Amino acid sequence: MYTTLSVLLILSLSFLACEGGDTCCSQPCQNRGVCTAIGQDSYECDCTRTGYYGQNCTTPEFFTWLKVSLKPKLNTVHFIMTHFKAVWNIVNNISFLRNSVMRYVLTSRADLIDSPPTYNSAYGYKSWEAYSNLSYFTRTLPPVPKDCPTPMGVRGKKELPDVKVVAEKLLMRRKFIPDPQRTSLMFAFFAQHFTHQFFKTDMKRGPAFTKAKNHGVDLSHIYGEELERQHKLRLFKDGKLKYQVLDGEVYPPIASEVQVDMHYPPHVPESRRFAVGHEAFGLVPGLMMFATIWLREHNRVCDVLKQEHPDWDDERLFQTARLILIGETIKIVIEEYVQHLSGYHLKLKFDPELLFNQRFQYQNRISAEFNTLYHWHPLMPDNFHIQDEVYNYKQFLYNTSIVTDYGINNLVESFSKQIAGRVAGGRNVPLALVMVATKSLENGRQMRFQSLNSYRMRFNMKPYTSFEELTGEKEMAAELEELYGHVDAVELYSGLLVEKPRTNAIFGETIVEMGAPYSLKGLMGNPICSPEYWKPSTFGGKVGFDIINTATLQKLVCNNVKGPCPIASFLVPDGVDSVATTINASTSHSGSKDMNPTLLLKERASEL
Ligand code: HEM
Ligand SMILES: *[C@@H]1O[C@H](CO)[C@@H](O)[C@H](O)[C@H]1NC(C)=O
Ligand SMILES: *[C@@H]1O[C@H](CO)[C@@H](O)[C@H](O)[C@H]1NC(C)=O
Ligand SMILES: *[C@@H]1O[C@H](CO)[C@@H](O)[C@H](O)[C@H]1NC(C)=O
Ligand SMILES: *[C@@H]1O[C@H](CO)[C@@H](O)[C@H](O)[C@H]1NC(C)=O
Ligand SMILES: *[C@@H]1O[C@H](CO)[C@@H](O)[C@H](O)[C@H]1NC(C)=O
Repeated sequence: MYTTLSVLLILSLSFLACEGGDTCCSQPCQNRGVCTAIGQDSYECDCTRTGYYGQNCTTPEFFTWLKVSLKPKLNTVHFIMTHFKAVWNIVNNISFLRNSVMRYVLTSRADLIDSPPTYNSAYGYKSWEAYSNLSYFTRTLPPVPKDCPTPMGVRGKKELPDVKVVAEKLLMRRKFIPDPQRTSLMFAFFAQHFTHQFFKTDMKRGPAFTKAKNHGVDLSHIYGEELERQHKLRLFKDGKLKYQVLDGEVYPPIASEVQVDMHYPPHVPESRRFAVGHEAFGLVPGLMMFATIWLREHNRVCDVLKQEHPDWDDERLFQTARLILIGETIKIVIEEYVQHLSGYHLKLKFDPELLFNQRFQYQNRISAEFNTLYHWHPLMPDNFHIQDEVYNYKQFLYNTSIVTDYGINNLVESFSKQIAGRVAGGRNVPLALVMVATKSLENGRQMRFQSLNSYRMRFNMKPYTSFEELTGEKEMAAELEELYGHVDAVELYSGLLVEKPRTNAIFGETIVEMGAPYSLKGLMGNPICSPEYWKPSTFGGKVGFDIINTATLQKLVCNNVKGPCPIASFLVPDGVDSVATTINASTSHSGSKDMNPTLLLKERASEL
């Protein structure tokens, strides 16, 4: 063990002292090497197990060199996964092949996430405090050291541009840009509902802190973070949650009646203040709709379990139902939600067994960068179309009457028909939410996030060399240049939102290649996916296990609404858009060189 250490090549170098700054300001260590400043004018890179050596961990060992030269570019892999449908149809049908590709997708993504976690926003070096204090979001890249020549390290201007100016020039919507992947509002609200169980910034402490205790898919947004809240939400009969019946339909209970804290503005009458696991879910009817659906699902699963196990007490029914709902959530997220986002023709599979013979840690820590990249507010439209009515933000927000007036069926139907906005490509954050975007920029600065390009390198992408390469056009590129001075100084959040989208896609390269590892690690790192948990008995036997393994969004809705079941879809089927949104070639971003299969094959050939 010590021999490896002694073989370790540690180099110091004298470095032209840059205005007293930390020598790690320039982020000299490549390929996940670790930088330690030594005195005022030198640093060392720890290249242990990176597969590289040399002063800056830039020289590949032979096997690394071989692997890297054989490895296709990320955009090439993406192209293959999203084209050649006929080939994928065959792969999807041969379980050995489908499993192998799925296993590769999971492991190659999860390998990019440090587990156990390392840094947080207060500790840019490994420490017991950073590891053990769960009040912090973790960090994938350490914060930019204090006292650097510029806020991004050494590149760019001495001061970052005003967040309001960045938001107004680059992020604010001019005209609604519909998502060419035809993502629905049903998807957008699912995303918001699902992610708010683990993105729970503790505003009182600041952006580096979270109120979420489990750092993953724990369904705290349904059951509450604290045991006390959970108990107030529970009926303590047959494992069920408390509910009320309005017009013959089940809805969440009233906050004052169950003594559960919820955030509502003063104008919302007491009778319309529903209580659910997450205190902020009164904000949007889309959130309360999903909260209602999951509440009904919990109680439905309790009925199924009680039938199987008439002797089980309330506690066991409750606890087992919760595990089943966690499983259903992960199943739907991987096989429908991530499937939709990815645009892959590979049929994704939720099968924990794929990882049983792999090196994989069943634990997860939510990182601040993941939270930032998930600020998908461009998804939100200008208005909300429900049946024949149109609601603006003022009428829509905090209006829980919408949930009960229309009922779950009508909301599901309407949200499945309205197209969401495109996330990447710039200038698509609705006016009503520009404040949220400026806040994310401020938070990123307070947490001293490294630049977009640093994150690209961390996730195996080439840094952009020009503003035009980043945006794929000239106008925003020129604005960016004026604001940031150097492409290496573009901030993470603004960079992600102005990045050139992939061809006909909702996202650019960086948000996907960064987001997918966090997402899959968080989903598969759940304890229910570990070998001792992933078996029927954990879920009350075959019946419970089957509920998980056959869960779909459509079933989730149909099992929980009365009367005819509406189509529930993460994508708006052709020709049913509730809003006339023509998606034409000019909205799918000019300047992005369209790859075609022949070009691709040539490119591959030259790589090999
Ligand atoms: C009309 C709809 C929406 C409204 C009014 C809204 C509003 C907000 C507000 C006010 C914040 C807190 C900002 C801050 O102070 O830092 C926030 C945070 C956030 N929003 Fe939204 N949002 C909406 C939709 C969405 C959607 C569709 C997503 C999709 C994923 C999303 C993702 C997030 C995330 C990840 C956060 C950070 C949460 C945290 O760390 O606590 N939001 N949003
Ligand atoms: C390592 O990085 C520093 C700073 O970026 C640079 O000056 C130096 O030349 C690099 N060393 C090697 C061997 O590439
Ligand atoms: C896939 O397999 C099913 C039966 O397992 C068969 O009916 C179907 O035709 C196959 N599809 C393709 C494209 O091979
Ligand atoms: C975590 O760190 C914060 C900030 O230093 C501190 O206030 C809090 O008490 C710590 N939490 C625990 C559980 O130690
Ligand atoms: C809330 O929605 C209902 C329709 O369900 C509408 O009649 C009402 O005007 C809305 N409330 C506000 C404050 O806009
Ligand atoms: C696409 O949109 C642009 C600008 O909105 C318009 O000038 C053009 O005619 C449209 N093309 C088609 C094919 O609809």
